[in-house]
Amino acid sequence: MKLTVCSSVLLLLLTFSFCHGGNIFVFPAEGSHWINMDILLQALHSRGHNITILRSTRSWYIKANASYYNALSMPVEKSIDETFITNLMKAGVQFVLGTTPWLSSINILTKMVDIITYLHSAVCELVSAVLDDAALMKTLEDTKFDLVLSDPCWGGGVILAKYMKLPLVYYVRWQIGEDAHFGIAPSPLSYIPVTGSGFTDRMTFLQRVKNMILYLVTYIQNDVISGRLYQPTCAKYLGPDCDFNQIKTDADIWLMRTDFVFDYPRPTMPNVVYIGGFQCKPAKPLPEHLEEFVQSSGEHGVVIMPMGTFVSELPDDMANGIAAALAKLPQKVIWRYKGKRPASVGNNTLVVDWMPQNDLLGHPKIKLFVAHGGTNGVHEAIYHGVPVAGLPMYFDQYDNLLRLQERGGAKIVSISTVDKDDSFLEAMQEVLTDPSYRENMQRLSRLHRDQPVEPMDKALFWIEFVMRHKGAAHLKAQSYNMSWFTYHSVDVVLFLTAAVLLVLLTSFMFIRCLFRALCKRKVKRE
Ligand SMILES: *[C@@H]1O[C@H](CO)[C@@H](O)[C@H](O)[C@H]1NC(C)=O
Ligand SMILES: *[C@@H]1O[C@H](CO)[C@@H](O)[C@H](O)[C@H]1NC(C)=O
Ligand SMILES: *[C@@H]1O[C@H](CO)[C@@H](O)[C@H](O)[C@H]1NC(C)=O
Ligand SMILES: *[C@@H]1O[C@H](CO)[C@@H](O)[C@H](O)[C@H]1NC(C)=O
Repeated sequence: MKLTVCSSVLLLLLTFSFCHGGNIFVFPAEGSHWINMDILLQALHSRGHNITILRSTRSWYIKANASYYNALSMPVEKSIDETFITNLMKAGVQFVLGTTPWLSSINILTKMVDIITYLHSAVCELVSAVLDDAALMKTLEDTKFDLVLSDPCWGGGVILAKYMKLPLVYYVRWQIGEDAHFGIAPSPLSYIPVTGSGFTDRMTFLQRVKNMILYLVTYIQNDVISGRLYQPTCAKYLGPDCDFNQIKTDADIWLMRTDFVFDYPRPTMPNVVYIGGFQCKPAKPLPEHLEEFVQSSGEHGVVIMPMGTFVSELPDDMANGIAAALAKLPQKVIWRYKGKRPASVGNNTLVVDWMPQNDLLGHPKIKLFVAHGGTNGVHEAIYHGVPVAGLPMYFDQYDNLLRLQERGGAKIVSISTVDKDDSFLEAMQEVLTDPSYRENMQRLSRLHRDQPVEPMDKALFWIEFVMRHKGAAHLKAQSYNMSWFTYHSVDVVLFLTAAVLLVLLTSFMFIRCLFRALCKRKVKRE
């Protein structure tokens, strides 16, 4: 008994001496990205690290006070606040529903471009606000940070990290607007579908043509954003020679929020660490009123529909269509919906403002998860092995759900028809009655959980690794520091082609001379 106490104290001491608290500077992104990063920050805090986050005074999701971080709130003019995000989502919904004539579709599209431009210039303003504040920079320098942790869907973190000469860890799925893999790893477009294409890893010729076109469009769009918006800030603070496109892939470790149970297999790099599903944890008991409601469902079980962080309000007739379809199910339904309560809500449906999604998904009575396809929800569905009926809206949502559908764990329905026909109801009924959906999700769940190290522990390990070794330069491939023609060996191919041509040309000339000489001799002899 005494010995065990002794050894556990020793173990505790050892662990503490191994991971003395570090100082971490965090540059987060707003919205649903923040929800999971918050979980990672809490875990870092509980391991004794001191966390400082950068936010604007008008941040929506990122709160100014929390027990587990210090917030640096910068006053800014442009801000990604509640109004901004709601507008972005509204424009997205309108565009997806495509109910508007094509002329106003173009209007919405230009509005989206404006919003995205505004977003990234707001990020640049935030970065400038910090770097221009000499007193603040002095205190930041005195704090002696060990690393910068940043979500590169906003390009500010890397500029700050380079300016402060600190190691950089990315907490990442997207970089600016594309799958971050495209920025760091070789990505053959023959079997890697571009997000937004809606293709799988087996593409026909025409699909590969579309995939290539979509890739070029995304590439140009990101290049314009990088060049027009981030490059001036980058050049101002890091010197005129600094190329944003080059430094943005220069991170020590990429904590990638995906894994290959979910995503299609593809080439990757030594400094990419897969932490998909790190936020998932075993279910806790439900609050009493919810447990009562869930138990009241009897043998039929429960359907949950937490429509994500962003989708707070749908058009009225669509909300009505969804409510009516849910009302026809024999199951009980828990629906998270913040808009005006639709008239057709059935007496089997509980409308809530918020639900403990993880605890519900882990409950044995849950039979179906109606998801919009955000990465968080999809990973939680895999972790708990719950089959999915998908109602994707925009961004990567369709592609996320497609990966589940491909593996037999989900059925996707177009959201634009929920108020027009029965396809939504039929899809839910199919997933509820056909046992293969649940079996497939359970299989994915077993695969996902069968890892030597839990994804969260992996994330913590690699962050502390970067602190201990002041970076991870030995894992960084040189590709980030190359021009495109060196990277693709265009110069070498040109050189070798020229050499071969030269040899061919010389041989040809030589043979021609020889031939001529022979001919002359023949003529002379005759
Ligand atoms: C923690 O970070 C804050 C800055 O946010 C800094 O003022 C403080 O000194 C740090 N604490 C330690 C123990 O380094
Ligand atoms: C901080 O949190 C407390 C409660 O947790 C709240 O009352 C307070 O308004 C918050 N904001 C600030 C700026 O202290
Ligand atoms: C719910 O509504 C259906 C049809 O509208 C009705 O048949 C049923 O009795 C109702 N159940 C309860 C518990 O009120
Ligand atoms: C690549 O890195 C080396 C140092 O490792 C540096 O001297 C060189 O200038 C870099 N090249 C480019 C194109 O940035």
